[in-house]
Amino acid sequence: MSHLIRLATEADLAAIMELEKASFGNDSWSRPTMRAELMAPHTFYVVASIGEKIVGYAGLSKVGSSASADIQTIAVSDSHRRAGIGRELMQMLIEQASKLSATEIYLEVREDKPAPQKLYEQLGFERIDRRENYYQPDGVAAIVMRLAISLSDKSEPVVLGIETSCDETGIGIVRGTTLLANVISSSMDQHARFGGVVPEIAARAHLEALEATLQKALQDAGVSIKDIDAVAVTNGPGLAGALMVGVGAAKALAVAIDKPIYAVNHLVAHVAVDVLERGKLETPTVALLVSGGHTSLLLVRDLLNDVELLGETIDDAAGEAFDKIARVLGLSYPGGPEIDKVAKNGDAKAIRFPRGLTLPKDQEKHRYNFSFSGLKTAVARHVELAESKGEQISIADVAASFREAVVDVLVTKAINACQDNNVPRLILGGGVVANSRLREVAEARCQEAGIELRIPALSLCTDNGAMIASLAAQKIMAGVQPSKLDFGVYSTLPV
Ligand code: KG4
Ligand code: ZN
Repeated sequence: MSHLIRLATEADLAAIMELEKASFGNDSWSRPTMRAELMAPHTFYVVASIGEKIVGYAGLSKVGSSASADIQTIAVSDSHRRAGIGRELMQMLIEQASKLSATEIYLEVREDKPAPQKLYEQLGFERIDRRENYYQPDGVAAIVMRLAISLSDKSEPVVLGIETSCDETGIGIVRGTTLLANVISSSMDQHARFGGVVPEIAARAHLEALEATLQKALQDAGVSIKDIDAVAVTNGPGLAGALMVGVGAAKALAVAIDKPIYAVNHLVAHVAVDVLERGKLETPTVALLVSGGHTSLLLVRDLLNDVELLGETIDDAAGEAFDKIARVLGLSYPGGPEIDKVAKNGDAKAIRFPRGLTLPKDQEKHRYNFSFSGLKTAVARHVELAESKGEQISIADVAASFREAVVDVLVTKAINACQDNNVPRLILGGGVVANSRLREVAEARCQEAGIELRIPALSLCTDNGAMIASLAAQKIMAGVQPSKLDFGVYSTLPV
């Protein structure tokens, strides 16, 4: 019959005491002491059972905010030695210490017991001290051992991510692949009268929003700043001044709480957000990232080691095009949602607007690149021409036709990227993903082409801190070393 390891309960007390007496004789704890330890909030006790019978137990203590934990006791019944039970009990305690954010574990072991010492060494413990005359009444010395828990050993690191590359101040907190908090403060309203993001205003707004956003994120996640294992921050691509505010804050935070920092690529993070919903990123995948700041097609063979930029916009970003055309049509900022709304009542076939970089001659150099400037000019001309002739234009038709042109190009190129590279899946990211027509067309054409389409929740598509934390957590779990504190910001950081 095989053994089972589970949390100890008060009902196990009698069996534990029996084992305690058999293992430690005169040196064993009294029943009241054992009971108190078992039930204490700062301890973690597990038992190994075979059927109804308890054949081993072990306990760990970690007090409050202290970074170190102690193995309090461990025993396995004589008749069940050498079955790996002691090792499994220890592993459970180490895992728990790690979950509780301990960075080191201490234990003491009798000098005259080489077998457990060897086990602890195999588990990574190092001998750091010897205490003379420690165990009574026989006066045997204690060997003190220590295990340093590195971040990469943590099965689920708690990571705080800071995003300030554009106009969203985003703070997200994840535990491994679990989303704990995703708080966003946007300065969009402050840019409205300029019809687009003003870098200086965005940077200033980040500075003003960071503190409150951070506090809200910690509160939402139900963690304290001491529970954070690592800080992550976008260091590009994006607006230099805006990035600098986030990077400065992240560095200060990491130094203050004495935790490692990870510099993260914003575009790759848009893809990493997927693991928060699915646990694991299925690769290879193509990613289409469309927002007010970027329009990029990525081929992701491996999230951490192999991301290729297939193409990007050579002029405006898709969202930017929406915002500019909204202005031409007298709609408010941000233009994407406005155009989307108006277009619902329009005819998408009313005007055939140009599809940028889709001609046969573009296929060689610009197969995966985008351009929206020609489209923008065409829409503006159409409106001007109608006005000069004194004709009434249908804003709904123009909006629908414009939207159709953008969506057609985005989806066509994304599907080409999948098919050319034999990739059976496509993931979308960025604020333009909110576009209802983009969703419709992407769904229909992906289905037709046998491509699996992934659209993360909108709150994870738009710029956010959770995606930054998520990518850093993936790095940590893969053993990637933290960034050195002197990293800079790069407005055109490559993937
Ligand atoms: O990712 P995001 O929130 O942040 C930045 O890029 O800063 O994207 C914002 C962009 C804006 O340009 C906005 O007009 C566009 O996404 N957008 C949309 C829609 N909703 C937002 N574009 C088209 N259709 C929409 N429904
Ligand atoms: Zn973005």
